[in-house]
Amino acid sequence: MLVAQITDIHLGFEPDSPGEFNRQRLDATLAALTALDPPPDLMLATGDLVDRGDVASYRRLREAFAELPFPVHYALGNHDVRHNFAEVFPEAPLTDGFLQYTIDDGPVRLVVIDTLEEGRHGGAFCDARAAWLRQTLDAAPDRPTLIVQHHPPVEVGIAWMNTDPAEPWVHRLADCLRGRDNVIGLVCGHIHRAIVTRWEDVVVATCPSTAPPVALELKPIDPAVADGRPLIVADPPAYALHWWNGRELISHYDTATDHQVLAHYDEGLQAMIGAMLEERPV
Ligand SMILES: [Fe+2]
Repeated sequence: MLVAQITDIHLGFEPDSPGEFNRQRLDATLAALTALDPPPDLMLATGDLVDRGDVASYRRLREAFAELPFPVHYALGNHDVRHNFAEVFPEAPLTDGFLQYTIDDGPVRLVVIDTLEEGRHGGAFCDARAAWLRQTLDAAPDRPTLIVQHHPPVEVGIAWMNTDPAEPWVHRLADCLRGRDNVIGLVCGHIHRAIVTRWEDVVVATCPSTAPPVALELKPIDPAVADGRPLIVADPPAYALHWWNGRELISHYDTATDHQVLAHYDEGLQAMIGAMLEERPV
């Protein structure tokens, strides 16, 4: 099973600009994913789908995804607005007003949860959402399960983007996941960078963004002193490709750029490749 993930698209950062920078970056990413061989079984778009939550930007997003040869499944981020998203994506499976649902048809069960609280930058996960997650996980305790959401429930060290581990929503989510051996990981976005950690016995992996990345700055931040540090940089758009090998989930990250190839599999390297393959037990 091959799951592509893109995140933090921020379409509409330049309002009324159909050819905006973030659309170009999204299109480059979708072109890279469409060219993959083997192709992904599906793509996750894990929130901050648009920048201002407006209907026009969601329409542009829908148009950008229209020709993709694989299905797309959505999670919502802090820049999203539920009712505007639902207006443009009426088929999206909202449960009790939240975008929470499962994708059950592959060897890994995907459970998408909604960490959006409109008006707040950081995550949220209320009792109603937690009750749905518990019930949903209880229904398939033996299936390998991947949690999909926007906000990482961990303190990542980039001070202005951090989640405080004392936030109630983090504890509520941890309580839902604790002791469930079938949860193989949690994939998310929000930080605009690739980050991997183990939290509450769950591997958490944040996907780099298609929109411009957040700068890697681990210094403490003082809200009283604007110290001129880089916040956003113009590095290439990127994506994740999660491959389930039947035992483990392997998360690859790549940029959506033309790679400069330094070695090809040609006759000059064929013997070496053959020797490497021969080493392995059959
Ligand atoms: Fe974002």
